Amino acid sequence: MKTLIKNISSLIGILPPDVKCKRGEEMSLVESLENAWLLIEGDHIDSFGTGGCPPSDKVIDAAGGMVMPSFCDSHTHIVYAGSREGEFLDKINGLSYEEIARRGGGILNSSDLLKSTDEDELFAQALGRLDEVLAKGTGALEIKSGYGLSTEGEIKSLRVIKRLKESRSAVIKSTFLGAHAVGRGYCKSDYVRLVCEEMMPLAEGLADFVDVFCDEGFFTPEDTAAILESGARHGLRPKIHANELAVSGGVQVGVRFDAVSVDHLERTGQAEIEALLESRTMPVMLPGASFFLGMPYGKAKDFIAAGLPVALASDYNPGSSPSGDMRFVMALGCIKMRLTPAQAFNAVTINGACAMDAADVAGSITPGKKANLLITRPGVTLTGIPYNYTTPVVALKLLGGRILQ
Ligand code: NIG
Ligand code: FE
Repeated sequence: MKTLIKNISSLIGILPPDVKCKRGEEMSLVESLENAWLLIEGDHIDSFGTGGCPPSDKVIDAAGGMVMPSFCDSHTHIVYAGSREGEFLDKINGLSYEEIARRGGGILNSSDLLKSTDEDELFAQALGRLDEVLAKGTGALEIKSGYGLSTEGEIKSLRVIKRLKESRSAVIKSTFLGAHAVGRGYCKSDYVRLVCEEMMPLAEGLADFVDVFCDEGFFTPEDTAAILESGARHGLRPKIHANELAVSGGVQVGVRFDAVSVDHLERTGQAEIEALLESRTMPVMLPGASFFLGMPYGKAKDFIAAGLPVALASDYNPGSSPSGDMRFVMALGCIKMRLTPAQAFNAVTINGACAMDAADVAGSITPGKKANLLITRPGVTLTGIPYNYTTPVVALKLLGGRILQ
């Protein structure tokens, strides 16, 4: 089945197949083709061009809109039960994220809720969030466990992610985050042992990556190294939480274990930039968490000036970023982090795909990649996407070459 998209004002985000990410000055460029067509064969991009359109079985008229790859959100926690609206009030009344966590709320609160929620109900709630973000233009995403905090709860969460992968044609990667917090009733050393020895072998068949919350009050670089060593024995590359609450040493330990990405990075300096320059690890910043918790924003411009790549992701979770809207993430990247629209675009497409090892199938207009695409309304420009940040700009979303209803 061949589907043609015609009357494209600008086809943006075109890349050759060997480009897996954009770094430094490359992030300022968005390759495009004006007055174009794009041909989809089955679920993937076949070809594109200008001038006479090729034959097809079906035609979609872009009517002068732009066509771009869907957003790639490399960091989400959408498998959780219920919400933490109560803590929202605590936050409004002045309690910090750390204070809420120290009182036994925060991640442990979500873990209690997950424990009392059966697997089908957990799946239904997570599927609702997945459909919400797909409707907002995400076409590839990473989903973490991390609210189980027991062997049973973590494996239940990973099974739910597996069902999510099977339910929708978005590109989905799965991450085992048993070390999100110390589970209730454990001392930290016993819990780290449980993660390494009991959970990791079970996670092996279900997860693509392993994650640790390496930060003040949670797990140290030594705990993290023990968990990443166990992950490596089970074939799981790291994607870790680092430097959100303090200069934690998380970036360095992530780089040492050849992490796919190190994420958050609200508190970093020259030492973190230098460690990353020696690596193939993608720095991922999460401006939605900075916005919601009133934290500093990651210094993306400094990273880019140093020649590094940067990806932006939503961190969709009930505690620090209850939104998976990647367009809002892109707008925060421009408004709060001073990225240009082109830099922010690359950060939420190809670099997001790279940050979850999915750049071979997602993140750009490249023949052979999945046809997960957005068609904008006529007249929308790249700059208009983050500028008119609440105006609807997307006319049609395609997942695997099919229109998302
Ligand atoms: O990425 N920082 C750690 N984990 C999540 C928050 C989890 C929660 O509060 O539920 C984050 O911000
Ligand atoms: Fe997170």
